[in-house]
Amino acid sequence: MSESAPLSGPVDANAAPRAPANADGERDVILRARNVTVGFGDAIILKDLDLDVYRGEILGFVGGSGTGKSVLMRTILGLTPKRAGTIEVLGIDLDSASDEERSHVERNWGVLFQQGALFSSLNVRQNIQVPMREHLNLSQRLMDELALFKLDLVGLPRDAAEKFPAELSGGMIKRASLARALVLDPEIVFLDEPTSGLDPIAAAAFDDLTTKLRDTLGLTVYMVTHDLDSLHSTCDRIAVLAEKRVLAAGTIDEMLAFDHPWVQAYFNGVRGARRGHDGSPGGRAADLRGRDGEGASAG
Ligand SMILES: Nc1ncnc2c1ncn2[C@@H]1O[C@H](COP(=O)(O)OP(=O)(O)OP(=O)(O)O)[C@@H](O)[C@H]1O
Ligand SMILES: [Mg+2]
Repeated sequence: MSESAPLSGPVDANAAPRAPANADGERDVILRARNVTVGFGDAIILKDLDLDVYRGEILGFVGGSGTGKSVLMRTILGLTPKRAGTIEVLGIDLDSASDEERSHVERNWGVLFQQGALFSSLNVRQNIQVPMREHLNLSQRLMDELALFKLDLVGLPRDAAEKFPAELSGGMIKRASLARALVLDPEIVFLDEPTSGLDPIAAAAFDDLTTKLRDTLGLTVYMVTHDLDSLHSTCDRIAVLAEKRVLAAGTIDEMLAFDHPWVQAYFNGVRGARRGHDGSPGGRAADLRGRDGEGASAG
């Protein structure tokens, strides 16, 4: 696998992974899973799964529907128990962590769940403030200011703060959920299908936002996605979940060349092939050109 390139400029789909390297060339692992096995009753969902996530990278996590992507994310977060294996986040194994270490990890990760992203009975401002109330001891005034700041960060208008989830569009809900995930200035965010259900313009805008946050905040992004455009345009590396484990991990080019029926069908199948593999703007951009005649900005 190729080594990391400097962290500058826009993400190039064909670029090498851009997670920073240590002085000795080793990449800083922010999440390490080893031999993880998870099951429900007789059903084994994940078996002997290994995964490394590097600091500062955008990792796309793909796999067939129902293969265990959300289960793995919940297991990493300590919400679903595992039967075997170890998971370290920020160098801390939550199974043997002290209360202080656990709190440190929980303060330094942000999560956008696939379902039920926001509390429906709270407005956006109150939703964003939930993690603050849990982990910080701040005045209401400061929390209100911070909530507005996070709305700016994710590109939501300030008047969205007093709206309830039912009053928001799907794209606004995703952004508000991201604002909540970012509220404690985490080092890593877990996003479960952040662009599903968004139109191509909103999805591209969300991808741009993700890249911008990584570039400006040095965030590590763990993104479960089925969105081939996100995988091409936004992710530095892709991990493929198949056969109950991470079958392959690498750049999009490495995935395109990976000799496995599911991986080939996924990346080089009808939908994958519709997109330009030479880095040319296929996918959403082509969709938009086809629809509007002149493309669209992702603002
Ligand atoms: N709490 C649970 N109890 C029993 N089975 C579960 C539980 N949670 C998940 N599963 C099962 O684990 C498998 C993996 O589910 P998971 O939600 O992780 O799939 P996924 O890869 O995220 O799929 P999708 O792409 O559709 O979101 C499924 O067969 C699901 O039914
Ligand atoms: Mg899922």
